[in-house]
Amino acid sequence: MKNYDTTRHVRGESLFADDFLLPEGTLFASVFSSSIAHGKIVSLDISEVEKHPGVKKIILAKDIPGQNQIGGIIQDEPLLAENEVHFCGQPIAIVIAENLLIARAAKKKIKIEFEELTPITDPREAYAKGMLIIPPRIFSNGNVDEAWTQCDVLVEGTVETGAQEHLYLETQGAIAFPTEGNGIKIISSTQGPTATQRAACKILGLPMHQVEVDVMRLGGGFGGKEDQANAWAAIAAVSAYVTKKPVKLILPRQEDMRMTGKRHPYSIDYKIGLTKDGKILSYEVTFFQNAGAAADLSTPILDRTLFHATNSYFVPNVKATGLCCRTNLPPNTAFRGFGGPQAMFAMEAAIYKAAAKLGIDVSIIQEKNLLTEGDEFHYGQLAENSKARACWNEAKEKFKFDEIKSNVEKFNRENQLSKKGYACMPICFGISFTNTFMNQAGALVHIYSDGSVGISTAAVEMGQGVNEKIRLVAAEIFSINKSKIKIETTNTSRVANTSPTAASSAADLNGKATELACKNLFERLVDFVKDEFGFSASSKIEFEDETILGDGNKIDLTWNELIQKAFFKRVNLSAHAHYAVPGIYFDKEKNKGNAFAYYSFGTAVVEVTVDCLRGTYIVDSVKAVHDFGKSFANVIDLGQAEGAIMQGIGWMTMEEVIYNSEGKLLTDALSTYKIPDIHSAPKEIEVHFLENSENPLGIFNSKAIGEPPLMYGIGTFFAIQNAMKAFRPGKEFQFSAPLTPEKVLLGLYKE
Ligand code: MTE
Ligand code: MOS
Repeated sequence: MKNYDTTRHVRGESLFADDFLLPEGTLFASVFSSSIAHGKIVSLDISEVEKHPGVKKIILAKDIPGQNQIGGIIQDEPLLAENEVHFCGQPIAIVIAENLLIARAAKKKIKIEFEELTPITDPREAYAKGMLIIPPRIFSNGNVDEAWTQCDVLVEGTVETGAQEHLYLETQGAIAFPTEGNGIKIISSTQGPTATQRAACKILGLPMHQVEVDVMRLGGGFGGKEDQANAWAAIAAVSAYVTKKPVKLILPRQEDMRMTGKRHPYSIDYKIGLTKDGKILSYEVTFFQNAGAAADLSTPILDRTLFHATNSYFVPNVKATGLCCRTNLPPNTAFRGFGGPQAMFAMEAAIYKAAAKLGIDVSIIQEKNLLTEGDEFHYGQLAENSKARACWNEAKEKFKFDEIKSNVEKFNRENQLSKKGYACMPICFGISFTNTFMNQAGALVHIYSDGSVGISTAAVEMGQGVNEKIRLVAAEIFSINKSKIKIETTNTSRVANTSPTAASSAADLNGKATELACKNLFERLVDFVKDEFGFSASSKIEFEDETILGDGNKIDLTWNELIQKAFFKRVNLSAHAHYAVPGIYFDKEKNKGNAFAYYSFGTAVVEVTVDCLRGTYIVDSVKAVHDFGKSFANVIDLGQAEGAIMQGIGWMTMEEVIYNSEGKLLTDALSTYKIPDIHSAPKEIEVHFLENSENPLGIFNSKAIGEPPLMYGIGTFFAIQNAMKAFRPGKEFQFSAPLTPEKVLLGLYKE
């Protein structure tokens, strides 16, 4: 099995936004942005830029024809700053020139004066000053206060998780073309073509039918282009609209890193209560989410944090509070896991601290509290078809948890400066957009008269393999060779009102829509065969490897011949279908409901070796048993699992986003921001497919795979910390991620 794009990618033939051949006369935009994190604009002088040879136009907030607003959920984000700036890197002006070098050189001539205001970068400080984007969100059940009195042990603590840079290979960008009658067509690197269309329409003051967004594929998104592709597309669009020329804007890497938001850093307070044999009775947790300067997707991300507050465990009394804190950082945004990972980190940290206090093995608490069939989550949904224990048990047996433990202990007895650690990491991740209305998708399938097939859906291919999955769906239903099927670009004029490709749901939603459209066509073709070849209504017509069977016997007719015949007989060879996930709802007042179509489960065990002289570490292995449902694209699913694990390890270990106290990003290049390379990849990575798992709500009985395995990476943090404990027994360590080699070294030696 190969991914749809593999051959073209390897040959360098795949087109990304930056690769499109540009029409004669295309102009280039560069964005002038704020150099400070908070302040008033006292004066802005563009006169020198206007005189710069080759500069065609400068656009400021006042030149925007529609509304200067790109906030999707909450309308709190101007496209271009007006009187105040709220983060370092906030766009203020667009400089449009005949070529890129001129645009970039000219923008340096903008003269701006600020009256600086004190920036807030810390979410707790923002909270103390009342800077909440929405009122506190509380998900709860039972009664934590009553439950504390029944607990044998209580443990409290504070944990921190860091931001994470998406570092998609392809930076943000778009090309916009003026079309007939004041319209605009945008080629964008966006996960959400409809959201991009909507944002551009608002900026331009145009109805949606005047703006078409087209997406070939993304060189990675990871959530970073779910909402944050919109600004750059809108900037390209307004530039094209004003100049009446095609305009291209691709962010250079450093600008992309400075101007766009990351995974939300969280500061978290927790309190957990257990019986002396390790049963969790009560858990109270408060999440201070560092939202940055605008809401962006922070509020649904915070909700997912609250949904996943108890990870893979059943806890009868829960109170989870989410605080969406406005700071002067670039607006933080979606990132693989969408707020879930932060919650799971806190829960695991609480369990680790409780285990230390109880003097029992962490895995005893983990295993004892895993979800069993029918357990109720704190938001009212039941854990149906729970595979939490099945995954744990299979992992425990397959990877021999007991043996790992004794080997690690033996190694640590025999080695003084090098210590090993391991950690088990169960996960549970809800599949569906938590905004119920977003759980819908469309597909448009054309069978061309030569028998080839073109499919358009709402899904955006960004390396995760959704196009190949959709192709497999159609190939299976028509029983034709995959090579006959092309997946078209994602285009708002072909499939409208799309949800972004996110929440790991694209293959489910768009696969199901494709399945419906293909089945619809299949039925039409079956009826045609019956008519044409004189079969009765009850006859069985089957398609098999591009041949047609009637009541089990081959008809002298290939797929291609069938299609041609059907075309001449005026059979409609195109079908559109819409799919909406059944049975989900959520009451946002009571915070109760069946928010998810189903859950994804798994258990991993992570082993590491720490060099206690240098603070460096090696991830020896990550082994997992994961519930893929019934995978129909094993290689793609395995690739997703491995990639997500790596990204999770990066977030927990070496990827450290640092802003200084003035809100300026210090890690704005690959020299200062490190992501895992092949040398820091686990020496061994082994992901097993849980057997006998079915999932009717997933496409072809499979389960969504894009995000959940990222959270196995959390085990790495605890494995490293366990190795540190072996070196310094009795020392208390901070639960603050990422656990960089620097922090390990300081942690081992600093008192
Ligand atoms: N895999 C690759 N190669 N590139 C990506 O950008 N994004 C991830 C995941 N896997 C991503 C990826 C994220 S954040 C999500 S939500 C899912 O893919 C989205 O795709 P799906 O719904 O088809 O799983
Ligand atoms: Mo993924 S964070 O839902 O784009």
